[in-house]
Amino acid sequence: MRKSAIIFLSVTSGLSLAAAASVPESGKNFIDSLMSEMTLEEKIGQLNLPVGGDIQTGVVLGPELDKLIATGNIGGFFNVKGVDEISRLQHIAVEKGPHGIPLLVGADVVHGYETVFPIPLALSCTWNPASVERMARISAIEATADGVNWNFSPMVDICRDPRWGRIAEGSGEDPWLGSVFAEAYIKGYQGDDMKSDSTLMACVKHFALYGAAEGGRDYNIVDMSRERMFNYYLPPFKAAIDAGSGSLMTSFNLINGRHATAARWLLDDLLRKDWGFDGLTVTDYNSIPEVASMGTSTLEEAAGLCLKAGTDMDMVSGLYVKYLKDALNRGEVTEKMIDDACRRVLEAKQSLGLFDDPYRYCRPERAEHELFTKSHRDAAREIAAETFVLLKNDKNLLPLKKQGTIALVGPLADAPNNMCGCWSMFARTENHASLLDAFRNAVGDKAEIIHARGSNIYYDAETQNRATGLRNIPHVGNDEELHAAAMAAVEKADVIVAAIGESSDMSGESASRAEITIPDTQRDLLKKLAKTGKPLVLVLFTGRPLVLDWESVNIPSILNVWFSGSEAADAIVDVLFGDSSPEGKLTTTFPRSVGQIPLYYNHLMPSHPDPEEGLFNRYCSNYIDCSNEPLYPFGYGMSYTQFEYGHPSLSGDVMEKDGKLTLTVDVRNIGERDGVEIVQMYLRDPVADIARPLKELKDFVRVHIPAGETRKVRFTITPDKLKYYNANLDYVYEPGEFHVMVGPDSKHVHTLKFTAK
Ligand code: BGC
Repeated sequence: MRKSAIIFLSVTSGLSLAAAASVPESGKNFIDSLMSEMTLEEKIGQLNLPVGGDIQTGVVLGPELDKLIATGNIGGFFNVKGVDEISRLQHIAVEKGPHGIPLLVGADVVHGYETVFPIPLALSCTWNPASVERMARISAIEATADGVNWNFSPMVDICRDPRWGRIAEGSGEDPWLGSVFAEAYIKGYQGDDMKSDSTLMACVKHFALYGAAEGGRDYNIVDMSRERMFNYYLPPFKAAIDAGSGSLMTSFNLINGRHATAARWLLDDLLRKDWGFDGLTVTDYNSIPEVASMGTSTLEEAAGLCLKAGTDMDMVSGLYVKYLKDALNRGEVTEKMIDDACRRVLEAKQSLGLFDDPYRYCRPERAEHELFTKSHRDAAREIAAETFVLLKNDKNLLPLKKQGTIALVGPLADAPNNMCGCWSMFARTENHASLLDAFRNAVGDKAEIIHARGSNIYYDAETQNRATGLRNIPHVGNDEELHAAAMAAVEKADVIVAAIGESSDMSGESASRAEITIPDTQRDLLKKLAKTGKPLVLVLFTGRPLVLDWESVNIPSILNVWFSGSEAADAIVDVLFGDSSPEGKLTTTFPRSVGQIPLYYNHLMPSHPDPEEGLFNRYCSNYIDCSNEPLYPFGYGMSYTQFEYGHPSLSGDVMEKDGKLTLTVDVRNIGERDGVEIVQMYLRDPVADIARPLKELKDFVRVHIPAGETRKVRFTITPDKLKYYNANLDYVYEPGEFHVMVGPDSKHVHTLKFTAK
C-alpha cells in the first residue's frame, strides 16, 4: 500500500498533521506549505545535485552523500546504480532529512539501460520515431525498475561537424528531423503520466548550441548569429519543450561570449518567457565554476549569475550551497529567485509522484524481473537492424550465403565489450555476444568461419589507449605480424568480412578527432585484404561519419553498423545473411575530406556558386583539391532491393493562405526482395528576407513495399512548413514562389514549383 506524503511529512517534519491534512497531496498548496516550513539553507540545499556512487566522470562523494542528505543539503544525486543503494539513500532523505523531502535520482540513460540500444545517431538513421519511442519506453521501464527517476536524455544538439565525438549522442544535422525525434524520446521516457512507476522525467540537453563547438573540439566555444541558431539549432529544443520535457540541462559552451549556464536571454527570456517552459533547469557537470574560469565572472559571483539567469540546480560544483547566501546578502540575487528555483525542484518531485510515494521507484522485485529481459533484448535486436546503413553493395555481394568458408577479420570481430558505444555504463557486457559468436551461431555447420584479429585499433599504443577509455581494448602484438597472420588466414576463404572502425569510446564525450578516417593500422589491413581480390565486406563500426574516400572506391560492400547495443552482434548477422534487410538512411553528411567540414545538406547559396559539379572552376566557391560534393549525402542509404520513383505531381500550383497542397509520388520496388523505403520531401524558398537553404527536409514517409509492387506516397504541404525565423526573429513565411522536392535522399530529387499566397 502506498504511504501518503501527508502522513510521512507530518511524522518526519514540523508540518503539523492538521495543516498537512488540509492540503491536497498534489496541489500547489502542498508545495507552498512545505516551503513555508523550510529555512533558506534547506531551500538552497534542494538546488544541489552532487554525484554519488562509483559510476563517475568526476569527483565522487561516497559516504559524504549520506550526511548531505540527512542535513537537507541536496535535492537529488546521480550516477548511483542499483535499487538497494538508491532505496537506502531515499530512506535517509525521508526519515532523517529536515522535512523528509524525497530525492531526485538522475542517470544518463541515453540509449538504453541494461538492455542497450543503438547510439542515438544510429537510432536517427531509422527515420522511425516509433522505434525511438519504443527504445525510450523500455529504457524508462528498466531505469525506474532500478531506482532512477530522472534521465539526462535526450541530447538534441544539432551537429554539422563530425569531428565532434558527441555527434554520436544526437539525431544528426537536420533540425526538422531532430525535432521529430526529440518528441519521440520525451513521449517514450515520460509516457502520458510521469507519476507512473515505469516512467521518468526527461532532461533535454544541452541548452544550447553545444553541437556547434568550434573546430569540432569538445567543450570549445560557440559564436553564432541569432538567425542561424533560431532556424537550425534551437528547433529540437523547442520541440522537446512542447512535448512536455520535465527538465532541461544547460550546456558547457560560451555563446557569443556568455556561458550558456549564465545566459539570461537564453534561459529566462527565451526558454521561460517565450517558450513558456515551467520545468526544472540544471547545469551540466560542474558548469558553474566554469562560468568563472571561462572569463565571465569571479568564482564568488558565478553562482548568483547562474541562478539569476534561470538555472535552478547546480550539478556537482556545490557552489550554490557555498555562495548563494552571500550573493543574496550582496543583493545579486533575490529571495524570490531562490524560492522559484526551489519550487521547481519540488514541483519536479511532485510530478514524479515522489511525495505520494518516495519509494515508488525502489521496488527490488521490479529490478529482479524487468532488467535485460528477453522481450527488451528482442526489441533491441530488431531496432538495431533498422539503424544499419548500407553504403555500398557491388554486384549484390550482400546478403551473404551461409555456405563455404567465411573469414571474419579485424580487431572488432571478437570484442563483445565494444558493441554499445558511448554512455553505456549500465551494460552487462559480459552477456554480450561478439560478432564472431553470432556468426558461428548463425551458420552452425552450414559454413566454416575462420577468425583473425588482423590488427590493433591504432599502430601506436598510446593513441589506442587514449581512444579506448572505458571499454579498453589492449594493444597487443606487432601490427605487421597481425596483418600477416590475417592474410594467411584469409587465403582459403571464399568471402572476407572485415569488422573494423572506431572502438566504442572513440565517439561520445571528450572524443573529438582531427582525422576522421578508419584508424591507420586497420586501414592498412583493409588495403591488404582488398588486394586479394576476394569478395570483401566492410562491417563498419563508428560513432560518427567517417571519411571513406579510399574505401568507397575499393571495398565492394560497406555496411555501416554504428554502435548498436547489447544485441548488436546478432542484429548485424541478421542483416549480413539477409534475415533482415538494411533500411537505415544517413542523418548526417559523410564528407570526402576533413577539409570540407562543416559540410551539411541544408546550406545557403554561396556567392560564385560552383556551376559544374566535380570540376574545378576558378573564381567559384570550390576547392582546388577536392570537390564540394559529400561522399554520401544526408538521407542516403541503400537496400537489398531497388526503388524507382515516378514523376511527382502536385494537387495545384497555388497554395492559398491557410490552404494546403498534396504532393503525390509513385514509388516502385523493382528488385526481387521486399523492402522499406524512406521517401523524403524537401522545400526551398528561393527568395526571402534572409537567404534560405537550397533545401530543407520537411517531411518523410517510411513505406514497406513488397517486391514488384508500387506504393503511392502522399505529402501534405501547409503554410506552417514554409515558415522560418526572419531577421526580426518572427516565425513567418513570405508569399511567393516555393520549390518542393521529393526523392530517396537529399541529392537525388525531383523538383516542382508552386506559389504560396
Ligand atoms: C555531460 C552530460 C551528462 C552529465 C552527467 C556531463 O559531462 O556533458 O551530458 O548528462 O555529464 O553525467
